[in-house]
Amino acid sequence: MPLLIRNADIITADSRYQGDIYAENETITRIGRNLEAPPGTDVIDATGKLVFPGFIDPHVHIYLPFMATYAKDTHETGSIAALVGGTTTYIEMCCPSRLEDALEGYQLWKSKADGASACDYSFHMSVTKFEEQTEGQLRQIVADGIASFKIFLAYKNFFGVDDNEMYQTLRLARKLGVVVTAHCENAELVARLQESLIAQGKTGPEWHEVSRPEPVEAEGTNRFATFLETTGAAGYVVHLSCKRALDAAVAAKSRGVRLWVESVLPHFLLDKTYAERPGVEGMKHVMSPPLRDRQNQKALWDALAMGFIDTVGTDHCPFDTSQKLLGKEGFTQIPNGIPGIEERVNLLYTYGVKRGTLDLHRFVDAASTRAAKLFGLFPRKGTIAVGSDADLVIYDPAYRGKISVAAQYSNCDYNGFEGMEIDGRPAIVTVRGRVQVKEGKFVGERGRGRLLKREPTYF
Ligand code: URP
Ligand code: ZN
Ligand code: ZN
Repeated sequence: MPLLIRNADIITADSRYQGDIYAENETITRIGRNLEAPPGTDVIDATGKLVFPGFIDPHVHIYLPFMATYAKDTHETGSIAALVGGTTTYIEMCCPSRLEDALEGYQLWKSKADGASACDYSFHMSVTKFEEQTEGQLRQIVADGIASFKIFLAYKNFFGVDDNEMYQTLRLARKLGVVVTAHCENAELVARLQESLIAQGKTGPEWHEVSRPEPVEAEGTNRFATFLETTGAAGYVVHLSCKRALDAAVAAKSRGVRLWVESVLPHFLLDKTYAERPGVEGMKHVMSPPLRDRQNQKALWDALAMGFIDTVGTDHCPFDTSQKLLGKEGFTQIPNGIPGIEERVNLLYTYGVKRGTLDLHRFVDAASTRAAKLFGLFPRKGTIAVGSDADLVIYDPAYRGKISVAAQYSNCDYNGFEGMEIDGRPAIVTVRGRVQVKEGKFVGERGRGRLLKREPTYF
């Protein structure tokens, strides 16, 4: 059925204007004034609302075997949570461990999403070791439409690569024109600090940050940038959390290294005192890199406003209370991660645009357009234009509410942002021309999401 959005206040990364948007066969085919629609068209009046391109979360974990357990969402629950929050596309980290075969892992991750996701999706392919067969396998995965890799400098002996493996991955990425995303923390220092803290009986979640202090992240960021500079590859730092790491990234950018930066929602809004709460309340806020001293937040917001931080993702990674309690004897056993896929857009709009200094267009850019451009999805995704997919968020800026676990779709028994006020939420969300969400409720078709094939562009 065709779709017509009337009286839209259309907001993209670089423009704002009034018009009607008409979509048929999943695609926007006309934008103009007083558009006519054939009988049978689904007509929506957007008066008083803002109309944004569908938001893109460039960093999520849905299927994730990690730290002796599994992240809680399935693509069914995770994609519905994404959509209710205005995210119409996500890129999941495909993360086979060092003990697993990369190609088998890729097929497994694909099978988990196939027919289950209600929104569109792609993968960053993790390279967790570099062996004789790795190059051939990665070539096949890239040929299948996956144009980005992921490496972990952290998580020694599980996901983590050593410097030689990083070098080989970046050299191959350079040849293939693929961008490499990276978790930047020094694995060796983390391991030594953990060992020392546990030996001193410092076992609670409040020691997690102490075991991965800011210099450890800054070192990882600087080392990744140095390897990019040396190999000529293009890179993207994921979940950058603090000013020291930001300084390393900005220094690299300013000397011409092809490096982009993502920060994730928790680091803008939560600080390390959340992880210092007693018992399981603290454990709920254990993630890596850890929540930091509050003074970092201003640096992150400023860098976001200026575009030094390119994108805002979530690193959505839900573990429930019983899983968090796996770490009750020692913080090193607490599954790292926090959900956020459902809250990202509303919290960024509220605390960035409405109550902060984030420009409305930079908001769209950071939460949608720039990820589309960086990861080969633009202009199909990330904007409102004739020829783009009709992924639209008709946003109600008059809505007032609070984040609550009671209302969430994500499969987790807590919400790390519990009680925070939101000034706005999506009234309607469409994916390729079909209404999937109305007023905070999923009303659409499950399993409709498609794997988005992407071409390498970093030559
Ligand atoms: O704490 C985190 N970030 N958990 C998910 C795995 C990762 O490092 O992205
Ligand atoms: Zn990570
Ligand atoms: Zn992650």
